[in-house]
Amino acid sequence: MFPGQERVRYLPWLMSMVACALTQDAAYWNTHAQETLKKMMGQKHNTNVAKNVILFLGDGLGISTVTASRIYKGQLQGQTGEENVMAYEKFAYTGLIKTYNTDQQVPDSAGTGTAFLCGVKAKAGTLGLDDIAEYSNCTSQHGAEVTSILNWSKKEGKSTGIVTTTRVTHATPAAAYAHAAARGWEGDTELGTEEVEGGCRDIAYQLVMNNSDVNVILGGGRRYFLSENKTDPELNATSRYQRADLDLVDEWTKDKIDRNSSHRYVWNNEQFSAVDPEKTDHLLGLFESSHMQYEHARNTG
Ligand SMILES: *[C@@H]1O[C@H](CO)[C@@H](O)[C@H](O)[C@H]1NC(C)=O
Ligand SMILES: *[C@@H]1O[C@H](CO)[C@@H](O)[C@H](O)[C@H]1NC(C)=O
Ligand SMILES: *[C@@H]1O[C@H](CO)[C@@H](O)[C@H](O)[C@H]1NC(C)=O
Ligand SMILES: *[C@@H]1O[C@H](CO)[C@@H](O)[C@H](O)[C@H]1NC(C)=O
Ligand SMILES: *[C@@H]1O[C@H](CO)[C@@H](O)[C@H](O)[C@H]1NC(C)=O
Repeated sequence: MFPGQERVRYLPWLMSMVACALTQDAAYWNTHAQETLKKMMGQKHNTNVAKNVILFLGDGLGISTVTASRIYKGQLQGQTGEENVMAYEKFAYTGLIKTYNTDQQVPDSAGTGTAFLCGVKAKAGTLGLDDIAEYSNCTSQHGAEVTSILNWSKKEGKSTGIVTTTRVTHATPAAAYAHAAARGWEGDTELGTEEVEGGCRDIAYQLVMNNSDVNVILGGGRRYFLSENKTDPELNATSRYQRADLDLVDEWTKDKIDRNSSHRYVWNNEQFSAVDPEKTDHLLGLFESSHMQYEHARNTG
C-alpha cells in the first residue's frame, strides 16, 4: 500500500496493472518466436548411454487432457492459463504418437500398454501378446507372447520396477510383465475352468511366480495377492476377489528368502517410509485392496 492511499482507490489501479501485464503486443510474440527457434536449433544431441530410464505412462493422457491440465495449473498460479508450460513440455524432445489397437479405433489400456511397453501393436483387451492372439481365448495366447521393456532392461543389467496408482494387475502396468488374452484375468477367481485347463494363469500369479527378478512393485490391488483365508488389514474384512489357490505375498517372500535377497513387503505409508532403499533389493508394496485413492481423497498420514 502506498501511504495516504485508500484501499478503494488502490484496487482499480492494481487491476489495471494486472491487465497490462497480461497484454502482449506484436513485439512480444516475435521475440518469443525467435527465442524459441534459436533455443531449439542450438540444442546439442545427447548421445550418452542413459543410466536410468523412467517411463511415465498417463492412462488416457491425450492432447485434450493435457490441455485442460495445463490451463488449470496456470489458473491456479493466477495466470489466464493457456500460456502456462508444464515441466514435461520443456523437455528437449517431444513427439506425438498414434494410439490404436489392431482391431479397435478407440483403443483400450491393455492393447496400448502392450504397444508402449512391448513395442508391438495388439488387439484390445490383450496383454503382452501379439495380434495372433484372440481376446479372451486362452488357447490362442500360447506362442503369441512378446517381451517387454522389463526384459530388455534386465538384459542390460539394470534393476527394474513398476509403480502405479492403479492395481498393479490392472491393464497398463500388467502389459509390462504378463501374458493374458483377457485383461480381466487379474486373480485366480477370475479364471474359468477353460482357462485353467488351457494352461493360462492369472496376472497376479504371473507377476510373483514368473517375474521374480522385478525389484520394485508398488501400487494397489492387494486383493488379488492375499489368500481367501486372510483378513485384509485395511478393510478388516475379506474381499471376494482374494485368492483360492495360494497367498502370493507369502510366495513372494519365500522366493526372496530362497534367493537370499534383502526384501520388504509393506502395505501402508508408515512401513513404506521405514524402508531403507540401500538395504532392500526387492520391495513389494500393496497399499490398497483395489486401486489407489485419488490425490484429493487420499489419507496422507
Ligand atoms: C481360440 O483359438 C484357437 C487357436 O487359435 C482356435 O482354434 C479356436 O477356434 C479359438 N476359439 C474360439 C472360441 O474362437
Ligand atoms: C510360471 O511359473 C510357474 C511356477 O513356477 C511355472 O509352472 C510356469 O511354467 C511359469 N510360466 C512361464 C510362462 O514361464
Ligand atoms: C522376460 O521376462 C519374463 C518375466 O521375468 C521371463 O519369464 C522371461 O523369461 C523373460 N524373457 C526374456 C527373453 O528375457
Ligand atoms: C483356505 O482354507 C481352506 C480350509 O483350510 C483351504 O482348503 C484352502 O486351500 C485355503 N485357501 C488358501 C488360498 O490357502
Ligand atoms: C546367503 O547369504 C549369506 C550371508 O551373506 C551367505 O552366507 C550364504 O551363503 C548365502 N546363501 C546363498 C544360497 O546364496
